[in-house]
Amino acid sequence: MWPNDRFIKLSGIELPIIQAPMAGLAFSDMVVAVSEAGGLGSLACALLSVEHARKELETIRRRTSRPINANFFCHQPPRDDRAREMNWRRRLDGYYVQLQVDDNSSIPNSARASFDDKMCDLVMEFHPEVVSFHFGLPDQSLLLRIRRAGAKILSSATSVAEALWLEDQGCDAIIAQGFEAGGHRGMFLTEDVSTQVGTMALVPQVVDAVKVPVIAAGGIADARGILAAFALGAAAVQIGTAYLRCPEAQISPLYRQALKDAKDNQTAITNVFTGRPARAIVNRLMREVGPMSDVALDFPLAAAALAPLRAKSEMAGSADFSPFWSGQAARLGRELPAAELTKQLAAEASAKLKLLQTLA
Ligand SMILES: Cc1cc2nc3c(=O)[nH]c(=O)nc-3n(C[C@H](O)[C@H](O)[C@H](O)COP(=O)(O)O)c2cc1C
Repeated sequence: MWPNDRFIKLSGIELPIIQAPMAGLAFSDMVVAVSEAGGLGSLACALLSVEHARKELETIRRRTSRPINANFFCHQPPRDDRAREMNWRRRLDGYYVQLQVDDNSSIPNSARASFDDKMCDLVMEFHPEVVSFHFGLPDQSLLLRIRRAGAKILSSATSVAEALWLEDQGCDAIIAQGFEAGGHRGMFLTEDVSTQVGTMALVPQVVDAVKVPVIAAGGIADARGILAAFALGAAAVQIGTAYLRCPEAQISPLYRQALKDAKDNQTAITNVFTGRPARAIVNRLMREVGPMSDVALDFPLAAAALAPLRAKSEMAGSADFSPFWSGQAARLGRELPAAELTKQLAAEASAKLKLLQTLA
């Protein structure tokens, strides 16, 4: 029924819709709802301890026998640079004073762990049908273990060069992540955000370059986007921001309202929240320190010094220091339970496809 069923066949899902992994914001409830509805639910593990990830995976496996995706970051460890750290703190000093945040307040560890042996043990234990990565891929030895566990391996590419690299390393499918996408850019062969490519241009060029199925991501939030992705040659879509509007997303009322209100031109790519380029709703910190800053610490260290500022300002009802990740199509989202959203998106896309086929 779908014009391209390569990813459906590869992963064993029914509907060509992947709920994007969203670290710290979507857990077992979201994953189970999407997978049970026939899409692919994704558990982002980057912000979870091994114990927490195990609990989530246990819950997911207890509640659904459908295919699921476990997702991990695989960034290089940050430089340990005391001088840069002092610089970053100094850049934020004025905010500490203004918000009356104690300069010595304990700074939490900005734990965004890279995929390692312990997380790989979890993959071996729970056998997710799909394992996806952001920021490249882990070592071949770890990839081999995942493959032996029977999982299909995916990763994000933000250029044709990255897609070819991922295919060469043995990825079973590639997520072409366009510039419109919310959250962190998966970019790993370049640090230059000025040359990042939009979904419309990226997807067909990646489709032409690789043999494996391509999943379109970035700015897709309704049936029109899904149809467009298929027209560009994609075999599925990965949708993030639109799923943030679902009740299963664990986001604050402030974040929820900001997504509801976000206009097409109110997001930007910034590195001030974590040290890596990511798309978020523009706020005071992004305007005053970024959106791109040379002073921001390496990923993920920049986040730690911001945490007390964020906590204090959110308590006062302000989003001045909050990383409200969002793609450019936030306003196309609708407030629906994740299962309903998945089914509605698929039904609407399929109806539009049939209509187009009748007209052709
Ligand atoms: C809130 C949020 C968190 C994200 N976290 C992750 C993550 O942990 N792992 C990952 O591979 N991608 C992550 N992404 C990126 C998505 O995989 C995907 O590329 C993006 O959501 C697609 O664009 P859209 O938001 O316009 O749908 C995140 C995106 C958002 C919006």
